[in-house]
Amino acid sequence: MVAPFITFEGIDGCGKSTQLRLLASALRLRGMEVCVTREPGGTPLGARLREVLLEADEQVDPLAELLLFAADRAQHVRALVQPALQSGRVVLSDRYADATVAYQGAGRGFSAAFVEEVVTLATGGLMPDLTLVIDLPVAESRARAQRRRRNGLELDRLDAEDTTFHERVREAYLQLAAREPERIRLIDAAGAVEETHARVLEIVIPFLEVWSSESKI
Ligand code: TMP
Repeated sequence: MVAPFITFEGIDGCGKSTQLRLLASALRLRGMEVCVTREPGGTPLGARLREVLLEADEQVDPLAELLLFAADRAQHVRALVQPALQSGRVVLSDRYADATVAYQGAGRGFSAAFVEEVVTLATGGLMPDLTLVIDLPVAESRARAQRRRRNGLELDRLDAEDTTFHERVREAYLQLAAREPERIRLIDAAGAVEETHARVLEIVIPFLEVWSSESKI
């Protein structure tokens, strides 16, 4: 691909969406063309799937859930991510394939091999060039999610899962980062938003310099 594909991951309430927005502004200030997107919901079809996935008031079967996230991703990759990368825009996505490994694999209990098969089908093999896992202990992220609720934002279906579910998801992200240290970088988000942003820049700016020195941009 012409431009790099960067994803943000982490448990609910970790602050990754804020960090993604700050990074997008910082890159635009440096004159880069940036495409900001998210999963689920990066395309018009995806926005409808997001509603179905996160706001359903019926019991959603775990396999149906897995396949709906995959459908969202298949559309996202083909309609938005690949065209943006081909046109030279840096793509920043709030969640991608690693979320399925963490939430549907570790969280819901699907086997790693099955999740990988579904993920590969949906992505066509397109993986991020860099993934930032914004890491926060579950207790702290729960507290942030509670504050979000007090500010009038409802918790969605997965936010509302119990603490052990979120512990499994966090553990899965830590394991992914240990397994793929080149692509997946852990960022400690326990401090202030600005401190975390500085850590993000410390990783992303050198990464982009290497990318452009290899004249991929
Ligand atoms: P968000 O709150 O980060 O926008 O993410 C929406 C929720 O969807 C979040 O609880 C994580 C969940 N999710 C999965 O369970 N599997 C996936 O593949 C993706 C992309 C998100």
